[in-house]
Amino acid sequence: MTVDDGAPRVMILNGPNLGRLGVREPEVYGHASMADLELAAAEWAGGLGLEVQVRQTDDESALVGWLHEAVDGRSHVVLNPAAFTHYSYALRDAAAQVTTSGLLLVEVHLSNPAARESFRHYSVVAGIATGTVAGFGFDSYRLALEAVHNKLSG
Ligand code: DQA
Repeated sequence: MTVDDGAPRVMILNGPNLGRLGVREPEVYGHASMADLELAAAEWAGGLGLEVQVRQTDDESALVGWLHEAVDGRSHVVLNPAAFTHYSYALRDAAAQVTTSGLLLVEVHLSNPAARESFRHYSVVAGIATGTVAGFGFDSYRLALEAVHNKLSG
């Protein structure tokens, strides 16, 4: 048996078009970039005693692979599935493996999809997530990390 007494690991995974943050519809998603999110996340995680990694891909299979990696490496997940939120059953099934293996998965959104176009109202991921934070810009990620920290400390 191995004993892992390091800081809890959290993978912050981001789906398609989120690499365009700062340029893409700034009135909806803000002016800050994915690089800015990486810096902010490292700072928040440091304060919470978490070890974070931020990744982004436009590729569904890469995102599915990273969720498998999270399960195998016992990493909690903060997931912004972007448009995959609304239709990717493959992503949903991969995300379900995170929570059914006893790890936390927080679904996050910068915007509040429920207040936008109707195709954004349904999330295929929400039903298997530990919880969801939406509508607070970068603060959605900060709140998600705090929720992970609080749940692990609880
Ligand atoms: C998003 C909301 C999704 O509807 C959209 O497709 C995105 C970003 C958000 O963070 O607000 O790409 O996940």
